[in-house]
Amino acid sequence: MSKKIFSGVQPTGNLHLGNYIGAIKNFVSLQNDPDNSCIYCVVDLHAITVKQNAVELKKNIRETTAAFIASGLDYKKSIIFNQSLVPAHAEGSWMLSCVARMGWLNRMTQFKEKAGKDKEKASVGLYIYPILMAADILLYDATHVPVGEDQKQHLELSRDIANKFNLDFNVPDFFIPPEPLIQKKFSRIMSLKDGTVKMSKSDPSDLSRINLNDSSDQIINKIKKAKTDAEPLPDDENELSNRPEAENLLGIYSSLSDQKLNKIINEFAGKNFSEFKKQLATLVVDKISPISLEINKLLKDEKFIDDILIQGAEKANIIASKKIQDLKKIIGFK
Ligand code: AMP
Ligand code: TRP
Repeated sequence: MSKKIFSGVQPTGNLHLGNYIGAIKNFVSLQNDPDNSCIYCVVDLHAITVKQNAVELKKNIRETTAAFIASGLDYKKSIIFNQSLVPAHAEGSWMLSCVARMGWLNRMTQFKEKAGKDKEKASVGLYIYPILMAADILLYDATHVPVGEDQKQHLELSRDIANKFNLDFNVPDFFIPPEPLIQKKFSRIMSLKDGTVKMSKSDPSDLSRINLNDSSDQIINKIKKAKTDAEPLPDDENELSNRPEAENLLGIYSSLSDQKLNKIINEFAGKNFSEFKKQLATLVVDKISPISLEINKLLKDEKFIDDILIQGAEKANIIASKKIQDLKKIIGFK
């Protein structure tokens, strides 16, 4: 079945190995299936739900785009653009916010986490963030949305909004309720310093993550220093259940080498970590260094990146503004 894919990544700083394995690598394989049409969006309107510095934001929009391209997204095959260039997202978001219910938003766990204790001081944008996300998806009639586990609830909200609009306005097929595409494996790459917490850009220790623009020496050093336990590597997957660091490092190896975890376990069974880490470092450097070099090369040509985004936005705008026109007719504006 042909799929219409839409996904977004916030331009909020260094992308890391978790983003690559959990999201971007998957975006690339979806793009390379000729049955799919894919749209990948740098969601800068979402980024401003928390305070941003203008210079940093611009830099991060370019960096995220460069990471997309360097990882294998092809602007000739996929539409790649940043959200703020297409006014339909903000416009559609308003109309959908009149469909979404307060009760639905009040259940969103990510808002509760991000707003923290003092939710009176959170921006209204942070609260209605999932409605903007619904607009992103619904305006393109996306059928499938690759996201991490943490975004599942937001996808359900998008489906609820689509269904309620279709019902309220008696237009059964107008919005397509999107399906989430959540990877079963590798949807959580863990910190190199603690196998029980997610690798994250907000971890204060840079040693906890491999950034997509780390140099080979940095990658080798970080893997050398990664936390492990005292036992040699096991010969059975079941023995990994209370060895989170071993499980994480073997998982990274399995994903980056595109080989089954079992095969990797067999290969390294009984070996000690120092030997495994050497080979893991070689693999990560092999896979990530070309991306890192390419990101840094692309970033030297800002016009090239800006042009990709502008051209992508032109294509996105044609699709999304048509949907907005139809939406306006249904609502009664036209
Ligand atoms: P974020 O860093 O929250 O903007 O995430 C961008 C994308 O990367 C989302 O699809 C996340 O689910 C995914 N992602 C972020 N951190 C990880 C991680 N540690 N492991 C796997 N996927 C991740
Ligand atoms: N909320 C998503 C995240 O934080 C980013 C996002 C915005 C998105 N709009 C989207 C993801 C539309 C998928 C589809 O990861």
